[in-house]
Amino acid sequence: MTDVFGLSHKDTGPVTGNDVSTAGSAGTSGTQGVHEQVVFCADEHSGLRAIIAIYSTALGPSLGGTRFYPYASEQAALADVLNLSRAMAYKNALAGLDHGGGKAVIIGDPSRDKTEALLRAYGRFVQSLGGRYLTACDVGTYSEDMDVIARESRYVTGRTVANGGAGDSSILTAYGVFQGMRAAAEHVYGTPSLRGRRVGVEGVGKVGHRLVDHLVEDGAEVVVCDVNEQAVERVRRRHPQVAAVAGRAELIAEPIDVFAPCALGGSLDDDTVAGMNARIVCGGANNQLAHAGVEKQLADRGILYAPDYVVNSGGVIQVADEIHGFNMDRARAKAAQIYDTTLKIFRIAAEEGVPPAVAADRLAERRMSEVGRIRAIWLGQ
Ligand SMILES: NC(=O)c1ccc[n+]([C@@H]2O[C@H](COP(=O)([O-])OP(=O)(O)OC[C@H]3O[C@@H](n4cnc5c(N)ncnc54)[C@H](O)[C@@H]3O)[C@@H](O)[C@H]2O)c1
Repeated sequence: MTDVFGLSHKDTGPVTGNDVSTAGSAGTSGTQGVHEQVVFCADEHSGLRAIIAIYSTALGPSLGGTRFYPYASEQAALADVLNLSRAMAYKNALAGLDHGGGKAVIIGDPSRDKTEALLRAYGRFVQSLGGRYLTACDVGTYSEDMDVIARESRYVTGRTVANGGAGDSSILTAYGVFQGMRAAAEHVYGTPSLRGRRVGVEGVGKVGHRLVDHLVEDGAEVVVCDVNEQAVERVRRRHPQVAAVAGRAELIAEPIDVFAPCALGGSLDDDTVAGMNARIVCGGANNQLAHAGVEKQLADRGILYAPDYVVNSGGVIQVADEIHGFNMDRARAKAAQIYDTTLKIFRIAAEEGVPPAVAADRLAERRMSEVGRIRAIWLGQ
């Protein structure tokens, strides 16, 4: 493929993280589908180079965040936005939202390239899609950035509380992960309570540290790891009883009941699964499965995997609520339904003899197909 933006490795610098979509994203059970629309956006003066991908509008306007990331190549950015937008369609479908799946990537280093002009230029492209795509925060973008984009577009959510927005989406992301974990405990132990269970949390950033709060409140024993020493210290100041270990290898070797990946993607690789003591995996990170087939390895070892995009949908539920005028109680009540959805997926997985990740994909595809089809009913003039 010819680069639309004429990017080279030299232009963008190295990819510095690994939280890009992997083969383990939603929709790996077979149906990849075709994206409805992919838009390349460029503005020479501000330096904007962005790609907006709309996977599906079967359930309503597509919704998904904007990732600002120093991709090594345009192909890497395109691959990421295609995977991420498809994953959003599955996530939004199972979150019960009237939204399809979309996502955008801005190519660049946010610490160097993010300017008011660039964000506003991007906002005009979002506006030009007439509401087919609604944007929000993702890696490299924050609520303050959404406030700036919203000066050029009505189709923006995840703004700051001061501007009528839902604010930090990690609040309900963590709450939803906790609900998913309660469902997993119910399925495995016959009780949703995590009291007395030992939970290992990898990554105690925005989502992870809030998850620790819920777990401690419920009476769980918690052990954490994070590459950032300050993040660990923050948790231990709040909860001195929380233990800390050096890294993921040490965490999974601990006698833990639940492993909660809340750092970057790809935590569940062959080695992690082989060395795992936990009976449940349930965490907030996106794209936890390092490659297709890991979901089966987990199932073969008797480890219950709560699909990432099901249990981490509290954040998108929070920002979707903002579109109707934000109400935290209403959004929290919707995020609480993640408990029922997760239990339902475990039940279908058992009935159909497939891993929960496959059952989740099937359920999402069914909703997109069945609800999407009602649009064929003619409404009259
Ligand atoms: N914030 C949200 O609302 C939201 C919603 C859905 C999914 N997610 C996903 O949840 C994950 C965490 O998001 P966040 O908003 O908390 O990000 P964050 O950057 O605030 O936190 C991530 C934490 O993981 C740590 N970390 C990075 N690499 C690590 C490693 N190898 N081992 C241990 N710790 C490591 C970081 O130091 C940081 O403290 C991401 O995968 C994100 O895509 C977040």
